[in-house]
Amino acid sequence: MCGIVGYLGGRQAAPILLDGLQKLEYRGYDSAGIAVIRDNGIEVHKKAGKLLDLRQQLNGYMPESTVGIGHTRWATHGRPNDTNAHPHLDCQGRFAVVHNGIIENYLTLREWLTSQGHVFRSETDTEVLSHLVEEFYMGDMVETMRRVLKKVDGSYAMAVLSLDEPHRLVAARHDSPLVVGLGDGENFLASDIPALLNHTRRTYILEDGEMAVMTRERVEVLDRGGSPVEKKLFIVNWEAKQAEKNGYDHFMLKEIHEQPRAIKDTLSGRISPDGREVVLNEITIPDEQLLKTSKIFITACGTAYHAGLVGKNVIESLARVPVEVDIASEFRYRDPLLDKNTLVIVISQSGETADTLAALREAKRKGARVLAVTNVVDSSVAREADDVLYTWAGPEIAVASTKAYTTQLVAMYLVGLHLARRRGTLDAGETAEIVTGLRKLPDKVTAMLDNGKDIEEFARKYCRCENAFFIGRGLDYAVAMEGSLKLKEISYIHAEAYAAGELKHGTLALIIEGVPVIALATQQALFEKTVSNIKEVKARDAMVLAVAMRGLEEVAKVADHVMYIPRTHQALTPVLAVVPLQLLAYHMAVARGCDVDQPRNLAKSVTVE
Ligand code: F6R
Repeated sequence: MCGIVGYLGGRQAAPILLDGLQKLEYRGYDSAGIAVIRDNGIEVHKKAGKLLDLRQQLNGYMPESTVGIGHTRWATHGRPNDTNAHPHLDCQGRFAVVHNGIIENYLTLREWLTSQGHVFRSETDTEVLSHLVEEFYMGDMVETMRRVLKKVDGSYAMAVLSLDEPHRLVAARHDSPLVVGLGDGENFLASDIPALLNHTRRTYILEDGEMAVMTRERVEVLDRGGSPVEKKLFIVNWEAKQAEKNGYDHFMLKEIHEQPRAIKDTLSGRISPDGREVVLNEITIPDEQLLKTSKIFITACGTAYHAGLVGKNVIESLARVPVEVDIASEFRYRDPLLDKNTLVIVISQSGETADTLAALREAKRKGARVLAVTNVVDSSVAREADDVLYTWAGPEIAVASTKAYTTQLVAMYLVGLHLARRRGTLDAGETAEIVTGLRKLPDKVTAMLDNGKDIEEFARKYCRCENAFFIGRGLDYAVAMEGSLKLKEISYIHAEAYAAGELKHGTLALIIEGVPVIALATQQALFEKTVSNIKEVKARDAMVLAVAMRGLEEVAKVADHVMYIPRTHQALTPVLAVVPLQLLAYHMAVARGCDVDQPRNLAKSVTVE
């Protein structure tokens, strides 16, 4: 997730671009840059770090120009440094490109372009775009863009400046947002509405496959075939603060709704073209070492630890290798038994959590191989691990982790499938079944988010409770732990998660009339057992909200309320089951008037022990 901006009109472009980037910094903040058209060429200024670093580099200098593009980056391909910062130029500096998204086939394109004589400067996937434009340019940017877009797979929102057509800005979108802002004698472009609000509230929201051809007087939108599209004007009536959250009241809700996109991005480029296999080029562990791996440890904190609990279940069942999951602050001090045949997987959204980093170092010190799963390119964890598998959730602003968790789950499936195939414990048919299930998850999450109204009502009704219990078996137990953490951290309701079969060994004493019990029942094989546990709490007059998979409607006979998740492969249910729990925690917290995005006593990244 990055932010892009563009401007053409009668005013100086650079200050407008920088102001727009400031409003988009929440979309990425590891480097920033602008490119403007000058009489003698395209002038680019870019710098690693926050926008402030770029401003400091400019030191008040604003290149004279009325046409330009800008970018604030959240690194995916290539570390966050000056060279990888956008905009990117072609060989001769005639075209400048900014891009948000992932070009999945960039390696193949890069190879081909190199064979055609193009020289690359950065490690980014984006740079193939500027070289493709250069390769195909025959005097018309629109035609050139159409040819370029035919070549690229993946997601993009992009904007291109051309020295040969200095009064035109061409932009295109596929699977990444892009908005055109309409002014008088000037027009604007941005990834998101906040960047436009200082200038205009009249916008066109571009759809997938559309291209905007902009001059200062006119904006034409074309479809994939090149035909003009009659765009509906969208007048923004949000306040600036709300616009930053894309109209949502809180970042947490926005991020919950970004999960389909985040899951899709995390799968992107990691599934074979026939959609049946996993391709994890980032994991460089030789096959013979994978065969010799006798034990896996997963270590992490908080929500990431909960993703590890799902990972244990998945990796053990697919790859048939024992997995232990440790809280990082315990792992680092408990002298774990590791050797060169141990694989340690550390999971961390930020990649900077002090305990997780210390656990990683301890694992390396003891000779284990370390695979990091993290959301931040070039974070400490990423730099120190032997291999890195990035989740592509984009920046997570709300303290309570949501989209990072679901993408960490996806990473666990990818690792599990990769190991299973290399170790020969899963056949092609079973693999294809799970991979197909993974590919369908984004749409299923979207469907659940579209039907989230019931949860809001339920939350309003029960928001005054003081205690809540989450129960489940197997994978459902792991998800129950995450549901309980979400509820307590943002709504301050005391919540506990239990393996459903464990209640009667003590906790049942706390189940009294009206206490909410959230029971997860998504696992067919464990369904009857979970239903028995629901009956146990119902016998003590608890109020039961069940989260069950479609097809397990029997649960409605014992629970007070049921929320259904769409049918999916048994192993994949956590990705869906957590969504109503996230929404429940969110709406409970809102109903109680809590500070959802910044709960008391908590910080987004815990860099102290
Ligand atoms: C809870 C939450 C935390 C983090 C934990 C680890 O919603 O976000 O529990 O999961 O602090 O953080 P990372 O993943 O950055 O290492």
